[in-house]
Amino acid sequence: MKQLRCFLCQQNAPFIPNQILCSRCGQPMLFADESDQKKKIQAEKKLSLEKYQDFLPLDSIDPNLCLGEGQTPLIRLLKLENEYKFPPLLAKVEAANPTLSFKDRGTAVLVQKVKQLGIKKIGTVSTGNMASSTAAYGARAGLETTLLVKKGTSIGALLSSAAFNPLIIEVDGDYGQLFYKSYELGRKFGIYFANSVDPLRIEGYKLTSLEICLQLGEAPDYVFVPVSSGGHLLGLLKGFIEFKEAGFISAVPTIVGIQAEGCSPIARAFEADREQVERFPRVETIAHSISNPNPPAGNLVLRLIRENHGLIIAVSDEEMLRAQQLLCQQEGLFVQPESASTLAAYLKLKNLDKIQGRAVLVLTGHGLKAAENNSVDNTRLFQSTLQELESILAFASRS
Ligand SMILES: Cc1ncc(COP(=O)(O)O)c(C=O)c1O
Ligand SMILES: [Zn+2]
Repeated sequence: MKQLRCFLCQQNAPFIPNQILCSRCGQPMLFADESDQKKKIQAEKKLSLEKYQDFLPLDSIDPNLCLGEGQTPLIRLLKLENEYKFPPLLAKVEAANPTLSFKDRGTAVLVQKVKQLGIKKIGTVSTGNMASSTAAYGARAGLETTLLVKKGTSIGALLSSAAFNPLIIEVDGDYGQLFYKSYELGRKFGIYFANSVDPLRIEGYKLTSLEICLQLGEAPDYVFVPVSSGGHLLGLLKGFIEFKEAGFISAVPTIVGIQAEGCSPIARAFEADREQVERFPRVETIAHSISNPNPPAGNLVLRLIRENHGLIIAVSDEEMLRAQQLLCQQEGLFVQPESASTLAAYLKLKNLDKIQGRAVLVLTGHGLKAAENNSVDNTRLFQSTLQELESILAFASRS
């Protein structure tokens, strides 16, 4: 796995940081798996990158660069199953990663390669989970880290990155153009800009699929995943395809990608049977982490989802918030509304009788990362003095 390939127009290219977009069609290129060596899982190894190294474009793994990413829980959502008479429903809790999102899996692979190549500076274009993940791993690896964020990013969103002391530049301008500009500046300043669709990140996301199959004992029938740029979905799909080719599973699950109704460029193209994703005109959603109006991997996601019999659907903000509440109050899982979109989509498809079989919801990020959408329920919050406490408790506690 040394070369990149455009899986849309089949062009090959060498792997060069900041040159990861296909020169012919503009879609992100991914690592091509040319090796015909039989792949093994090294179950006895401790770290996730070590266990699945045969599936990664890494010749060696430095354990000191890892933060304990991966090997996240896969848990049954039994209360939901029982209440709604669902077939087996499970959650892959990616919020359990070191910086509370799936992004750590990608950043972990990235820093390994960056150190091996002798690169000293990394960067990313993000305001959220990818920024804090990159800053954390950058700090641990002793790399200078540059984050390019949108002007007006809230202090709350900045804090989870700023704690690691990266260079942060707030940029006033079109966020979509900033993505492409970062590659140009990266080449000039020797900074590897690993953005959302970076091929090394995508290799890291593959491991989620491998883990799901090993934890379940086989591939699930459905996997639900929120989609913004499309990088995560590509990684999951690539993981299942390679795991099948290696003979570990017999079929690739149906992947269901979910977008917010208020920013659903890929879902719209999917429904309309178009091959090209069009820029979404006006973004209006609380789900900021999945609100890319111009997804860089959009066309590739469309092609691969169709080829592998998946689907892309949209859910409303209200459906996401209701699903977030269900996951919290029924299952004890506090995840971002973006991540709860998976349950919202599951409920939608289930109501249409379109789910037959075992499904896994990939819960991409922790609720604390987007807590501005939540409030304290006033009917459950009381004030008391020490003297009054007993009578207030007697009044308020559920009998
Ligand atoms: C919590 C969460 N879920 C889903 C996504 C979407 O991932 P992608 O941009 O790879 O499609 C993101 C991206 O930042 C995210 O932060
Ligand atoms: Zn191409």
